[in-house]
Amino acid sequence: MSIVRHIKRPSRSLGAPNADPARQARPTAGLSPSGAQETRPIECEKLWKVYGDPSPALMADLAAGRISPREAYRTHGCVAAVADVTFSVGTGEIFCIMGLSGSGKSTLVRHVNRLIQPTSGHVRLFGKDLAGLNAAELRHVRSHQIGMVFQNVALLPHKTVIENVAYGLEVRGLGRDERHAVAREKLEMVGLIDWQQRYADELSGGMQQRVGLARALAIDPDILLMDEPFSALDPLIRRQLQTEFAKLSEQMRKTTLFITHDLEEAVRLGDRIAIMKDGAFVQVGTPEEVVLHPANAYVADFVKEISPLRILTAAHVMRPIAVAHGGATLRQISQDTILQQVIDALAETPEPIAVTDDAGAVIGTVSRDDIVLALRSTAG
Ligand SMILES: Nc1ncnc2c1ncn2[C@@H]1O[C@H](COP(=O)(O)OP(=O)(O)OP(=O)(O)O)[C@@H](O)[C@H]1O
Ligand SMILES: [Mg+2]
Repeated sequence: MSIVRHIKRPSRSLGAPNADPARQARPTAGLSPSGAQETRPIECEKLWKVYGDPSPALMADLAAGRISPREAYRTHGCVAAVADVTFSVGTGEIFCIMGLSGSGKSTLVRHVNRLIQPTSGHVRLFGKDLAGLNAAELRHVRSHQIGMVFQNVALLPHKTVIENVAYGLEVRGLGRDERHAVAREKLEMVGLIDWQQRYADELSGGMQQRVGLARALAIDPDILLMDEPFSALDPLIRRQLQTEFAKLSEQMRKTTLFITHDLEEAVRLGDRIAIMKDGAFVQVGTPEEVVLHPANAYVADFVKEISPLRILTAAHVMRPIAVAHGGATLRQISQDTILQQVIDALAETPEPIAVTDDAGAVIGTVSRDDIVLALRSTAG
């Protein structure tokens, strides 16, 4: 059974503006300016990373669009791994960056913890430019505010699972009991509490990725950076971990930058998705916007593999009703229920089903005919 998107996210109706949530501010430690209005956890502005020692003149030409990244490579041998990328991520949002191998995803995400310095542009966390931080401040940001999970999590093989998870807290100087208590809580979350005394190399790949997630969560970071965390796993395990992660992030609401080369994964997990190509974002939008309105043929090519049954919701296919009590006698489902589950519900009754909003008020009905019509319109 696929992820139940409607339990994960608040309503996203068709054509809604980028669900870019001025979601409620959550108090944040460290960089967050105390008492000030909350700034976005992650902001990248006009970010460029050009390998091959570009001259200032070349950078100026690139930034002004007088020369394309492709041309810069041909004429100067410079690779624009990240090309003029601007975006921000709101508190608790999962922002997925999807692109093919070499499109610049890892280069981009590594700017956010400053493993890579931009050629030009800015990265701000909670409004503070990373370029302005000294070494100690940067260490603090990395060890307290950012949790990272990569494709191969590289656990410490001579340490047990619990010691690996507690490692970030050990570095911080926390006592053994205290850090192990936190580590146990996180291992419980990822379903590996029974493995706490095993050594890392006794675990399967999927289990190691879960330990990596528990380790990242142990420091209680404000921001999670995930660079293809599930890509090396076989499809069944990958799907299982996606489902677990979706549930976990629903509870935790951590601001997350999630990198993937799999659009289906991005659609399952993302509040918004950026499609990256040759270092640049070619489209940014909610999963619905990207899947239903691909910006160009490049995006459309990825999108055609995605089933509308997992994207469309009851809100997309319902017939709105003006009278609030109209569906009182019908079975009810939330407007955010994905089509696949609407169909399951309709299979059990010949009657239409009433669709409710977040407050539980009936706002429409959906019948078997409505499903047929909706699917016919997406097929074209
Ligand atoms: N240190 C480097 N020096 C020169 N070029 C680099 C360097 N690191 C990355 N690149 C180039 O930048 C581009 C983007 O690489 P990056 O690793 O960010 O892509 P990616 O989208 O993460 O790919 P993958 O899906 O394979 O991980 C590639 O063309 C790569 O060759
Ligand atoms: Mg990569």
